[in-house]
Amino acid sequence: MAEKKIRVDDFLKYKEEKKKFSVLTAYNFQIAKILDTAGVPMLLVGDSVGMVEAGYDSTLPVTMGEIIYHTRSVRRGVSSAFVVADMPFMSYQAGLRDALKNAGRLIKKGGAEAVKIEGGLCVAPTVRAMTEIGIPVMGHIGLTPQSVNALGGYKVQGKTKDEASRLLEDARALESAGIFALVLEGVPATLASEVTRELKIPTIGIGAGSGTDGQVLVINDMLGLTPGKLPRFVKKYADLEGIITKATTGFIDEVRDGEFPKKEHSY
Ligand code: KIV
Repeated sequence: MAEKKIRVDDFLKYKEEKKKFSVLTAYNFQIAKILDTAGVPMLLVGDSVGMVEAGYDSTLPVTMGEIIYHTRSVRRGVSSAFVVADMPFMSYQAGLRDALKNAGRLIKKGGAEAVKIEGGLCVAPTVRAMTEIGIPVMGHIGLTPQSVNALGGYKVQGKTKDEASRLLEDARALESAGIFALVLEGVPATLASEVTRELKIPTIGIGAGSGTDGQVLVINDMLGLTPGKLPRFVKKYADLEGIITKATTGFIDEVRDGEFPKKEHSY
């Protein structure tokens, strides 16, 4: 059950106490309320919202307006969890001024308590500028979906020695710049464990094995709402697609057969 309000420094405490923690994405009020009450300490309003809720084929079209809308909805459902909003593609890459203004909008208009940005060494100055004005930042390296065109697809990163040492360098640069946590996506488990041992701040893995401090999943994937074949790192904890289909066909059948509504449903 949800307890006290989770704050940014709690994640550092989890790391110090070697306490593994969970993170889920959330995009709307009702689901956020359920996840918060269940006790998940961090909710991420990921730009994955574009793919799982809006049906885009990548995260690239997601706008600031969309993330602000979803962050506000999530925030209204939360009393305990720490809420992080993803900065969409091109909301922070074109210049520091834009990046600060947009991060500020996610805090001020969305009600986020921190922002997440993708990238390593090259975004370290942006991270520093944000943290210096009091905006907590979560990093995200490895398979960074906003770079899907440059990466040539959604491929595991850090497989070669060179790639692995670049990833370690990125992680160190982001930690020095002030991130409070780091998402490691689509990297070999051994490399994710090495990064986790190196850093004082917590790592949060997705497709990065069991050696990270936290684990994050996209809520629609773990609830079984995402159609088709899922990546191997996803575990389905429920089959909501099956439940919704059964409920819907039940409704269709009962309306057709005149079984709904009954007397007790009428005024
Ligand atoms: O957008 C998202 O949901 C994410 C997580 C998968 C880390 O970035």
